[in-house]
Amino acid sequence: MIVTPDIQQVRNIRHADPTLTWGFVPTMGYLHEGHLSLVRQARAENDRVAVSIYVNPTQFAPHEDLDSYPRDLERDLALLRAENVDLVFTPDDSIMYPPDFQTYVTVEKVTQPLEGASRPTHFRGVATVVAKLFNIVQPTRAYFGQKDAQQTVVLKQMVRDLNFDLELIVCPTVREADGLAMSSRNAYLSPAERKAATVLYRALSQAKVAFEQGERNGERLRTLMREIIEAEPLARLDYVSVADRRTLAELDEVGKGALLSMAVFIGKTRLIDNMLVGEEG
Ligand code: PAF
Repeated sequence: MIVTPDIQQVRNIRHADPTLTWGFVPTMGYLHEGHLSLVRQARAENDRVAVSIYVNPTQFAPHEDLDSYPRDLERDLALLRAENVDLVFTPDDSIMYPPDFQTYVTVEKVTQPLEGASRPTHFRGVATVVAKLFNIVQPTRAYFGQKDAQQTVVLKQMVRDLNFDLELIVCPTVREADGLAMSSRNAYLSPAERKAATVLYRALSQAKVAFEQGERNGERLRTLMREIIEAEPLARLDYVSVADRRTLAELDEVGKGALLSMAVFIGKTRLIDNMLVGEEG
């Protein structure tokens, strides 16, 4: 496994044999089973696998957790070695954002609601860094988790709009035994908060059951989820949503399917989760 912060070295390795396919998993490190499931799918579908580890400052607002974001590079590299990863790109800020850096990628409509409403500069940072990583690694396929549902919608839009020559693959959310979606930010939770954090899964699951039993009114599904969150004393709701899975516009009537999603503060930690209900399309 080659570990390098050097863009030219990544390019040389990537282009050494142009017949090989490359799967790519961009990460911010502090890897968990969710990341490793992406790596395993990339491993199964490609000749070579590249992973990036970079905590991208431009997707954090000034008041957010950039400085405290958990990091453990040695542990991450051991996990990736065990998955037979070929290449790990570990740039720093001086490589990704040199002092004269001035170009950003703005995806418009689908970045406005949900996470974008609460974190207005977040997706500009995500789209910019992922565009740079795609240009550096030039993967055949890139793998992202359904856990960050809006991120996958935004990045698919960017891939289409900017004609990136790659396939973007979305993999299922990996959950703890009690349903909590895996996230590096779960490391912030105290034992009591960790217990309370299952409320996101419980609210989404109950709304999914209601949908499966015939509830098609968007507002009633949102109210159902809101009430479950509000009944948990350690939880503070940021938003709940029942939206079109592609446009992310809120739905009054849920036709064949929808994206149920939410952001909830458990203590000071902001967690997100989502479930797709109904049919694709
Ligand atoms: O999902 C993440 O961890 C990040 O948003 C990503 C895609 C690695 C970009 O920094």
